[in-house]
Amino acid sequence: MTVILREGADLRKLVRGWKAAGNIVGLVPTMGALHDGHLSLARAAKAECERVIVTIFVNPRQFNNPDDLKKYPRTEAADAGLLATVGVDVIFAPTADEVYPAGFATTVSVAGVAEPLEGVLRPGHFDGVATVVTKLFGMTLADRAYFGQKDWQQLRVVNRLVRDLNLPVWIVGCETVREADGVAMSSRNARLGGAARRIAPALFAAMTRAGGAIRSGADPTTALADCRAEVLASGFDSVEYIELRDAATLEAAEGLNRPLRLLAAVWLAGVRLIDNIAV
Ligand code: PAF
Repeated sequence: MTVILREGADLRKLVRGWKAAGNIVGLVPTMGALHDGHLSLARAAKAECERVIVTIFVNPRQFNNPDDLKKYPRTEAADAGLLATVGVDVIFAPTADEVYPAGFATTVSVAGVAEPLEGVLRPGHFDGVATVVTKLFGMTLADRAYFGQKDWQQLRVVNRLVRDLNLPVWIVGCETVREADGVAMSSRNARLGGAARRIAPALFAAMTRAGGAIRSGADPTTALADCRAEVLASGFDSVEYIELRDAATLEAAEGLNRPLRLLAAVWLAGVRLIDNIAV
């Protein structure tokens, strides 16, 4: 049975019991509005850990846009139903006061990998993510934590943070789950209307073409320019970035003989979508 806990003290008591019994504890941090991408993380955690906690917390500190925070879908009852089908042990859904009690004064800030791309376009976002993820690791005492590769830069930031602070948690990055037409699953997709949803697959299609062209020796600058033009011609409102970066550091990709990542952030019908693929 999946239980819902809201207080850190209750969670800690339960997890201490699990640990005393020698159980490995897996964590899937989420902001709710769950889809198959989240469920695939929960299934991966179930396959590798004796106990699984999914956290549902819409973290106010990582929203640089108050309107985005307000519009973020909140669907806890439906989420709980989905997680029960996966056999998750605990849903930890704390209040904001439980996570950030009065007097809270600490920010975890990652330099380097958190600075480009989303770091420029969403100031403060990764401080909010790094701070809440550090808190969730502390609150859940997890041994392993599962993150989607869809948020590639976030995954790199969390990896850096865990290494830099010697946090005793193993980070597992899981493949992006896509709809049949290639659209990366995201809680924000629910905000796309029918017409916009029909345009959305063009992003992954254009990125796949650009990635293939670069792998086959095309000039990256030309391939990226073609990709941006194709996305705009398909009906997207604007492109914030479509860039080729070093997959680990997210620095500009100078030289193509190392793992690279093609990353994109675009706007469609008032919704900001991100995606990335290996090149
Ligand atoms: O990826 C998300 O949903 C959030 O950034 C996370 C990791 C749950 C932190 O709030």
